[in-house]
Amino acid sequence: MNILLLGSGGREDALAWRLRQSPSCEALLAAPGTPGIARWAECVAADPLDADAVIALARGRAIDLVVIGPEAPLVAGVGDALRDAGFAVFGPNAAAAQLEGSKGFTKDLCRTHGIPTADYERVETVAEAWAALGRFGAPVVIKADGLAAGKGVTVAMTVAEAEAAITAAGDGPMVIEEFLEGEEASLFALVDGETAVALASAQDHKRVGEGDAGPNTGGMGAYCPAPVLTADLEARAMDEIVRPTALAMAAAGTPFSGVLYAGLMLTTDGPKLIEYNVRFGDPECEAIMPLIDGDFAQLLYAVAAGQLASIAPPRLANKHSVTVIVAARGYPGTPVSGGAIRAIEAAEQIQGVTIFHAGTATGDHGLIATGGRVLAVTAVAETFANARARAYRGVDAIDFADGFHRRDIGWRELERVS
Ligand code: AMP
Ligand code: GLY
Repeated sequence: MNILLLGSGGREDALAWRLRQSPSCEALLAAPGTPGIARWAECVAADPLDADAVIALARGRAIDLVVIGPEAPLVAGVGDALRDAGFAVFGPNAAAAQLEGSKGFTKDLCRTHGIPTADYERVETVAEAWAALGRFGAPVVIKADGLAAGKGVTVAMTVAEAEAAITAAGDGPMVIEEFLEGEEASLFALVDGETAVALASAQDHKRVGEGDAGPNTGGMGAYCPAPVLTADLEARAMDEIVRPTALAMAAAGTPFSGVLYAGLMLTTDGPKLIEYNVRFGDPECEAIMPLIDGDFAQLLYAVAAGQLASIAPPRLANKHSVTVIVAARGYPGTPVSGGAIRAIEAAEQIQGVTIFHAGTATGDHGLIATGGRVLAVTAVAETFANARARAYRGVDAIDFADGFHRRDIGWRELERVS
């Protein structure tokens, strides 16, 4: 198979790494790719949001499968355009990508189909938001609608905080919702139309600082699996949340195809949906990929071709994986750019360690940082504790003076196992 991967993050580096190892993968192209991805794929300068350019590239290189990494091209309909042009695509069409693109759409779908989620109200103006706040009280969650990468969400513990968030958001679509208490976990399911199978669980660390303090980020580290999502809870989440969603989308004539990432709150009443994403999580993907058994490219192709029901379910190695993000100082505000990164090779010598690149470039004197999140240091081992220890050994071996990381990735699981 000739495969084209769209995107340029740490997630795409991990996807490219895993696709490259798939027996069915003959040629692997990435657009635009990164210096990290160039280790596994031929990088081609094309904008993933430019459907015409992507189609021309796919035609020119006889591509059999297009894998869309990030949400923006999905929400913009690049998947639709590729499918219309006859390509097999891993990733949903725009109508199904609304599950991530519009929080209001997803909340309404949950209400209509009895899918467990926080009680909520959709509002359009600040005045309506005040009224809703009066009914919910605090704690309460205020969410600006649209693609906001988690940044449009305020978990307000007091009415004053909620008022400030509403004032800051201004008039426009918002969701005001009930505060859910519990531990969060992510469930990644492969979905093609009415078929949905669990792929992996993971737990992310969204806050920038240790002890889950400070502003939200794209994610500072992750581990896979997330044992807090027990087999029983995972089965409930599939039966009560993911499958009903797949069926509802198919029944509405907008079937979902790709990976559905359910952000769950594990409450005393069972798993409840916090949000959907329509792509792999970043950095969860970096933690998941090293554990996937079998021909990953074939698996993604089966989803794209609508054959998920007729293939063997995906399998994960019976191991644990931990990813620690090394970010550039200043992230998630304004990160320091251009800092030199050295000794990556030494880190990669450590058993079980793989380093994915999230924001790097090749400078005059070697690798430099270009983004907020720079490296995703990932380690695999038989136990969670060993995977975590290896990941930090990898982080410590890297010489990146302008970088920082959290030392407590996986702290919840560490408390459970020790
Ligand atoms: P979202 O972008 O919807 O995932 O929200 C970002 C983060 O806000 C989540 O990962 C949760 O930590 C938190 N959050 C969102 N909705 C709720 C809720 N209803 N109750 C408690 N925490 C929430
Ligand atoms: N790690 C969170 C996300 O990918 O949205």
